[in-house]
Amino acid sequence: SKLKPNAKLDISKYEHLPFVRIDEAINYVDKQVKIAGWVHRQRVQGKKMKFLVIRDGYGFLQCVVGSDLCAIVDMQELTVESSINLFGTVKKVPEGKQSSNGIELIVEAFEIISKAPGGDEAFGNILNAEASPSIQLDNRHMVLRGETASSCIRFRSLTLKAFRDYFDSKNLCEVSPPLLVETQAEGGSNVFAVDYYGNPAYLTQSSQLYLETALPSVGDNYCITESFRAEHSVTRRHLSQFTHVEAELGFITFDQLLGFIEDMPPQKPFLRMEYTDAIQWLQRNNIERDVYVNDVKVGQEPYKFGDDIVESAERTMTDTIGQPILLTRFPVELKAFYMKKCPLNPALTESVDVLMPGVGEITGASMRISDYAELIKAYEREHIDPSPYYWFTDQRKYGSVEHGGFGLGIERYLAWILNRHTVREVCLYPRFTGRCSP
Ligand code: 4AD
Repeated sequence: SKLKPNAKLDISKYEHLPFVRIDEAINYVDKQVKIAGWVHRQRVQGKKMKFLVIRDGYGFLQCVVGSDLCAIVDMQELTVESSINLFGTVKKVPEGKQSSNGIELIVEAFEIISKAPGGDEAFGNILNAEASPSIQLDNRHMVLRGETASSCIRFRSLTLKAFRDYFDSKNLCEVSPPLLVETQAEGGSNVFAVDYYGNPAYLTQSSQLYLETALPSVGDNYCITESFRAEHSVTRRHLSQFTHVEAELGFITFDQLLGFIEDMPPQKPFLRMEYTDAIQWLQRNNIERDVYVNDVKVGQEPYKFGDDIVESAERTMTDTIGQPILLTRFPVELKAFYMKKCPLNPALTESVDVLMPGVGEITGASMRISDYAELIKAYEREHIDPSPYYWFTDQRKYGSVEHGGFGLGIERYLAWILNRHTVREVCLYPRFTGRCSP
């Protein structure tokens, strides 16, 4: 039965077939099914055969279209990214032939749901191998359909689930803090200010202060929610909006906090290194810091105690050492106002940055000041008006306890574990200096 080029297929006799997602198709070998998805790729073999790779968001399936169906114009003119229903029989791929999942669909009928454009507007003309990073970002909605981007997004989902499972296994309660706030947890230089019914407010930089207040309410707790930073420098690890995994733990010691963090990622133990040793490492390895006068670089000098270790130096050190590092006990001046001082050396804080080869810092953590008077002094030292923080201060008034916690940027964690060049690759739609579209 030869089909005419303009034939319209009668699909009524296929409509009863089970609608199967590609990840489930393996359970339907030698059975007839309906598959729906987008044309990911296609390859014509001679005049009589076409191999389609169909993508449905759950996987990819090779679909073999024989000569009868290939005679139809709709199949001949099929464009990549058109959406389509396919009816046919799932078959094991013969030994030695290539297929990602060991199966293919022998197509018996098809129905185009919506045609994608060909010609100038064809998918492949918008996004080809030469597309610059900025064109790729403008077309992020298209890039997301690609194999690498979609794998990253799916892996991100699995990772968030794994973090929730970990916290659940430790009996932490998930809370949902406000993102519109009046306080600046991490200092004022990079907050997004918003007009809040005529009053100033900010997009939160961290939910930590709120998690601390939830401790006496629900005990140890965490949140996985967005944080915002108006970062001025464009780097491959800075975003303006990122997903912040934060947890707060009561009645713990600094050592227990380090252990909790170390237990989370897949690899341990981590090298533990104090800030003071890191300064010595930089000195020994002749890594110097730039010296600026009035914002103009005037030279370089060796690192000394008290210097903030800049991103490039930190990365060189982490990449050279080549393993995860828990970098601990930073000087008070370099860290946020709320950090607890080391009992044996009040110039240092019970703080830790987790550094990973390839990306640098993925987690910031510390024990928190528990003493009321000490917190008031810390506000003064940092020139912070304590009035908007009254609820945070109250924690030290009404039954203060030792506690600590951490924040982990999920994009940095993913960039590390997936070996991506930038954190932008693991965002659905990255937000960074100057970019707010799509
Ligand atoms: O070290 P940070 O600033 O620590 C805090 O915000 C604490 N209040 C967290 C806490 O203890 N609850 O940020 C924590 C982590 C960083 O290690 C980094 O992974 C991520 O948040 N992060 C960013 N990720 C992407 N782009 C940015 N601009 C980021 N700023 C911080």
